[in-house]
Amino acid sequence: MSQPATPTRAWRQLTLVPMALALLSAACSSAPPVAPLHERLGGVQGIESISSAMIQRMATDPRTRRTFDGINLRTISASIAAYLCKVADGPCVYEGETMRNAHADLKLGGSEFDTTVQILREELDRAGVGEGAKNELLRRLAPSRRDIVTADR
Ligand code: HEM
Repeated sequence: MSQPATPTRAWRQLTLVPMALALLSAACSSAPPVAPLHERLGGVQGIESISSAMIQRMATDPRTRRTFDGINLRTISASIAAYLCKVADGPCVYEGETMRNAHADLKLGGSEFDTTVQILREELDRAGVGEGAKNELLRRLAPSRRDIVTADR
């Protein structure tokens, strides 16, 4: 005669293993909390060095340097850092002009804007900013194109 199938203690414990693994896997696969954008850009210091590198390049690149004659690069770099930090929900105070007012006299064209975005993209890459944070920042800046670009060139 065979024994009734009463689960042993060891067997009962064994059935708990898949359950525990399922719970663990659910916990691990739930999306980790995403840090605020300004932190993912390297914090205030990271944003300052990205802005500084961006402005240095804009002021020397033949495709963008046209409007930089007589501009104090340290001042504009600090202002752009504060602006980008603010756009990225950071703890900075931006006291400059609106994008429309700041660029109105410069009569900037679409190609100057697009080159600037390309320079910023490259500097974000160089700083080791991740794809997600880089694209999020560029997505937030994109609507300013219609305020900054006021000429055909
Ligand atoms: C996403 C694109 C851009 C952003 C976020 C941006 C941001 C800024 C900010 C925050 C300022 C300082 C405004 C102030 O302090 O009152 C500024 C000024 C300036 N920007 Fe831009 N800018 C952009 C595109 C461009 C482009 C495409 C050029 C030229 C190629 C340019 C050239 C300048 C110059 C020359 C100034 C100084 C204007 C002055 O002092 O009279 N910017 N920009």
